Amino acid sequence: MLGLESSCDETAASIVARGADGTARILSNIVYSQVEDHAAYGGVVPEIAARAHVEAMDGIVRAALAEAAIRIDALDAVAATTGPGLVGGLIVGAMTGRAIAAARDIPFLGINHLEGHALTPRLTDGIAYPYLLLLVSGGHSQIILVRGLGQYERWGTTIDDALGEAFDKTAKLLGLPHPGGPSVERMASAGNAARFRLPRPMKGDPRLDFSFSGLKTAVRLAAEAASPLSDNDVADLSAAFQAAAADSLGDRVDRALARLRTVLPAGTQAVLAVAGGVAANQAIRAALTAATARHGAQLVAPPAALCTDNAAMIAYAGLERLEAGLIP
Ligand code: KG4
Ligand code: ZN
Repeated sequence: MLGLESSCDETAASIVARGADGTARILSNIVYSQVEDHAAYGGVVPEIAARAHVEAMDGIVRAALAEAAIRIDALDAVAATTGPGLVGGLIVGAMTGRAIAAARDIPFLGINHLEGHALTPRLTDGIAYPYLLLLVSGGHSQIILVRGLGQYERWGTTIDDALGEAFDKTAKLLGLPHPGGPSVERMASAGNAARFRLPRPMKGDPRLDFSFSGLKTAVRLAAEAASPLSDNDVADLSAAFQAAAADSLGDRVDRALARLRTVLPAGTQAVLAVAGGVAANQAIRAALTAATARHGAQLVAPPAALCTDNAAMIAYAGLERLEAGLIP
């Protein structure tokens, strides 16, 4: 299965195949990041992204085939992200995928980007349905019960900013480079999280939703009060923001795991899987490790390269759909 991903600022292609022993294997996973194309603008510019996908896509597909050491006529199907995302990029991936499928007379599968993230723990760890998925990326913060292929129950979502978006905006207001998540994490490692007292949004709220915009505003107010900011101040504010975000997330996950227990048959192992770029953050992972430990749940955290946007997750989702006979 060839997978293509181009919904945001990564152009990616991957080959995933099911081995004779039943496990799915990633034969190649090529990701071209456009981060540098957008760096000067402090965010992703849709028009620039669309043009960059056009320029990169055919070379990325060739690279994925070459790394997997297979010829294009050996492909059995093609999958591409068809939404949600920036429409210019989606068209590039979908049309490339459809053209290859039409030329080779093989099925084309349009994949929802979120399904790609949701199924990644099955690709990396072979976990069984059902499981709880925490998706924390630049565009989404959601808690989803994954009951089966195509059966997703959303238990919680953000009522304002996504967590990655909050990291990115916080970085911007602290003068740190884009993408903000890794910048904030880097600064936070040298900071004192206790110096600034920041709110823990939604903590204790019986719903499973998230909120991060108030936290971002609290950082802005603290930054304005401490301005002009020294490197030390930026490190302390980064550490305080990261600690508050991790704390809030840990509380939400705690509640979700308590609810998961009520829907799982007795004796079933509870599993929390994480996906999305923010899952690469070590403080966030520590909060999730603590929450799952409190509930005797298993934490499945795929390698960072498969938590952020990639095409292996799209190829894998296509593979599951093809195997289930869900061909459009
Ligand atoms: O999943 P992803 O690659 O793209 C989508 O949004 O779909 O996630 C990107 C987001 C960005 O907001 C980025 O700042 C954040 O994930 N991120 C991080 C870290 N690495 C990436 N946030 C916090 N800590 C990190 N180490
Ligand atoms: Zn994503």
